[in-house]
Amino acid sequence: MDWSAFFRSTVEPVLAYQPGLREEQIREIAQTDAIYKLSSNESPLPPFPSALAAMSEQLLTLNEYPDGSAHELTQLLAWHYEVAPEQIMLGNGSNELLDLIAETCLQAGDNVVFGWPSFVVYQSAAMLGGAEFRQIPLCPDGAYDLDALLAAIDAHTKIVFICTPNNPTGNVVSHAGLERFLDAVPAHVLVVIDAAYEEFIDEEEAPDAAKPLVYFDGQRPYVVLKTFSKMYALAGIRCGFGLAPAILVEMVHKVREPFNVNTIAQAAARASLEDVAERAYRRALNTKGRSRLQSCFAALGLKYHPSQANFVWVEVPDATATFDELLRRGIIVRPFAGANGLRVTVGDAAGVSATIAAFEDIFGQGRG
Ligand SMILES: Cc1ncc(COP(=O)(O)O)c(C=O)c1O
Repeated sequence: MDWSAFFRSTVEPVLAYQPGLREEQIREIAQTDAIYKLSSNESPLPPFPSALAAMSEQLLTLNEYPDGSAHELTQLLAWHYEVAPEQIMLGNGSNELLDLIAETCLQAGDNVVFGWPSFVVYQSAAMLGGAEFRQIPLCPDGAYDLDALLAAIDAHTKIVFICTPNNPTGNVVSHAGLERFLDAVPAHVLVVIDAAYEEFIDEEEAPDAAKPLVYFDGQRPYVVLKTFSKMYALAGIRCGFGLAPAILVEMVHKVREPFNVNTIAQAAARASLEDVAERAYRRALNTKGRSRLQSCFAALGLKYHPSQANFVWVEVPDATATFDELLRRGIIVRPFAGANGLRVTVGDAAGVSATIAAFEDIFGQGRG
């Protein structure tokens, strides 16, 4: 039986997304009961208390379909970000929006440009859209190299993805850098800024970090994508959103599934967005944990990138061996094939302490 004829030729070469290890997968390897899953940049805390209450209120309505237009959430996001409701797109996670934009815009002959290493979905979205993709190496400090991105653009470039803070390095692009990029980028290119981790940026530590929303005018081909999965601790319920020109939102509506954001997600997102105090508290907690991790890496002589996200990229002499050593100590981090480092999510205070203890054990005096 030749199955290949059944499938679109663009599907076969795509690598399915590999999620991080789950706790139960390492119970036998770990020599401790205290296991910390620091492999998927999830929040170590549960959803916001206001979101938990809002979600439970919706349970009795689940016999009905969600509001397919997500009217209330759309209005709230428009008010919050001072844009028109027609400029808001919603997705089953921002991952779905990356795919939807690709599906809406790309066709054979197009190319897509993005930094590398970065979020792997830019590659799969490009491939599924039948487009060529160009991975542009990051700057040595781990940030997107915006000049190199510009140099890679040609007449067939349809989309440029910029991830800031970048996953997996945590670096941000600067305000001035993004401004220069947007002045120079040709008008036929859709610039998609993936700001999934923006809420973790600490203004005091990174005063010149780009604020992508400043450049959103609803006219130029420019999109900012955001998510409720990270700062808002709602990864399991799937809700992402984008600010985009109304014409692009209109096109995405034609492509998306009619009820792509479920009722509980809509309620949780609304409640979370309004909880300014909880957001500030969690940002401070993350900054503290991140700085503890970075101090530990510095003290151990391990190079790390200056992160503004909820994870830190740390270089280690042997990433595979260190990954295994950490697993034995109950710490699940994220390895990247062929890379000389590991991505470590910032846990809660106990998770950070356990991570530090494990790294000290592995790389402390006389070890490593
Ligand atoms: C840079 C980046 N963008 C987008 C996403 C997708 O997030 P979600 O689909 O949960 O909104 C992730 C998830 O890890 C990410 O790291």
